[in-house]
Amino acid sequence: MQTKSKSVNILGIETSCDETAAAVVADGRIIKSSLIASQTKLHEKYGGVVPEIASRAHIEKIYPVIAEAITQASVAKNDIDAIAVANQPGLTIALVVGVTAAKTISFVWGKPLIAINHLYAHLQSAMLSEDNLELPAVALIVSGGHTCLYDCQSPLELKLLGSTIDDAAGEAFDKVATILKLPYPGGPSIEKAAEKGNPDAIKFPRTMLGTQSLDFSFSGIKTAVLYYCRGQDMKGEDKVDSMSRQQIADIAASFQKAVIDVLLEKTHRAAERIGAKTVLLGGGVAANSELRNRFQEMCNSAAPPKKLLVAPKPYCTDNAVMVASLGYHKFKAGLFADLTLEPAAM
Ligand code: KG4
Ligand code: ZN
Repeated sequence: MQTKSKSVNILGIETSCDETAAAVVADGRIIKSSLIASQTKLHEKYGGVVPEIASRAHIEKIYPVIAEAITQASVAKNDIDAIAVANQPGLTIALVVGVTAAKTISFVWGKPLIAINHLYAHLQSAMLSEDNLELPAVALIVSGGHTCLYDCQSPLELKLLGSTIDDAAGEAFDKVATILKLPYPGGPSIEKAAEKGNPDAIKFPRTMLGTQSLDFSFSGIKTAVLYYCRGQDMKGEDKVDSMSRQQIADIAASFQKAVIDVLLEKTHRAAERIGAKTVLLGGGVAANSELRNRFQEMCNSAAPPKKLLVAPKPYCTDNAVMVASLGYHKFKAGLFADLTLEPAAM
């Protein structure tokens, strides 16, 4: 008689920026618990993440969040097979909190430690519900700190094809939201404002960096929105206060469309270049419905059509499920870290 193999439970820990998160995931995809303590309220008044405040809040929340993740998962400590922690990239003084907690638990419980690249974990979110990943795949990560295109050979093998040379896509959303005086965090605010706007109202630039490039640049479009609102070289009045809701909506929709056009074009180029059968999409900006819809259209209309795998919305922004899920693949491959593990900003 065949005995069913025991499932592998990974405790994932994430503190790379402004979410303190812990999760227990079985076999890379069965989510037993997922806890996220968001710091949005703490950073709101500054219009962006303040590293020292983030670090302090992680210190306060890390153990309650981990304890609750274990309680909700209803697993005994002996049933946890390994501790996976995001140790790069991110804010060093934020990452160090998760890394220290993970190392402590690993040492005290005698469980293996697994180091996770936060960006690769974002892509893992896109693979959560997929049994059969058709390769080759092109993978786009669009987050607050990064915009990267990869040739994905497996969850553990990613070759960088291109990345942003200045602002990340999410950063551009956040900065444009600030220019338009929309609430923090900027990405969801732009998306909401854009729903009622005309995406063709204003022709903002699409920076392509040449016909072959797979790199991105979003600082030009951010400056174009700034000059549109405050005059060329910011020499005019700030017109945002006197703009109607419709005008703000039109700017948001036109900006959003321009950014999506660039992301689509570059991903399409990369997919053609590597002959991709699958497109993977992850990171905070992947929560944007318009972006998801347009990527789906691109994949459907490609010849031959490509499969789009996009992270479920709750797992687009930072979470620990993606860390535990990628941890499972590293566990299976025997890729462990030791107690000398340090956080790394890049
Ligand atoms: O992946 P993430 O949570 O953190 C980083 O690793 O950076 O991404 C956060 C970014 C922020 O810039 C936020 O404004 C953006 O994702 N974002 C969105 C949406 N939701 C979050 N951008 C556009 N549309 C959204 N719905
Ligand atoms: Zn992230």
